[in-house]
Amino acid sequence: VEETLVLVKPDGVARNLTGEILRRIEAKGYQLVDVRLIEAELDLLSQHYAEHVGKPFYEPLLEFMQSGPIVAFRIAGERVIEGFRSLAGTTDPTTAAPGTIRGDFGRDWGLKVQQNLVHGSDSPESAQRELALWFG
Ligand code: GTP
Ligand code: MG
Repeated sequence: VEETLVLVKPDGVARNLTGEILRRIEAKGYQLVDVRLIEAELDLLSQHYAEHVGKPFYEPLLEFMQSGPIVAFRIAGERVIEGFRSLAGTTDPTTAAPGTIRGDFGRDWGLKVQQNLVHGSDSPESAQRELALWFG
């Protein structure tokens, strides 16, 4: 069965939304396989976000991701990669659809699109790579 990596980013943990996010994942019928609370270091984050090196938001994104603890979930289910991306909503929390995690709980906290509460792997290749990074 397919697996994906979900991260509750530092804003989600700080705002006590970890339980609500897991509730939505479980309500959808996906299975929690493993969980970790991590203060991510630069090395892990730069590997995780390697595809974004050089983009204008790269440095602020890595700084934000080091601003507090992150909760990592290993989640399993049929088409869970697409399914969780759908639960999360689009990247910009201001315009993410209501009913999604980002749409219901996120907004722009001062041009900070990176504070969008969650990460979900975007392909089977990313999921494999990212699960190995965060769960070893
Ligand atoms: P993830 O699930 O976190 O990977 O989000 P995504 O796939 O919807 O977005 P993408 O992979 O393109 O970007 C990774 C992360 O970088 C986003 O989740 C945001 O936190 C941040 N980000 C992306 N685009 C922007 C931007 O234009 N400005 C800022 N400030 N942050 C951005
Ligand atoms: Mg992405």
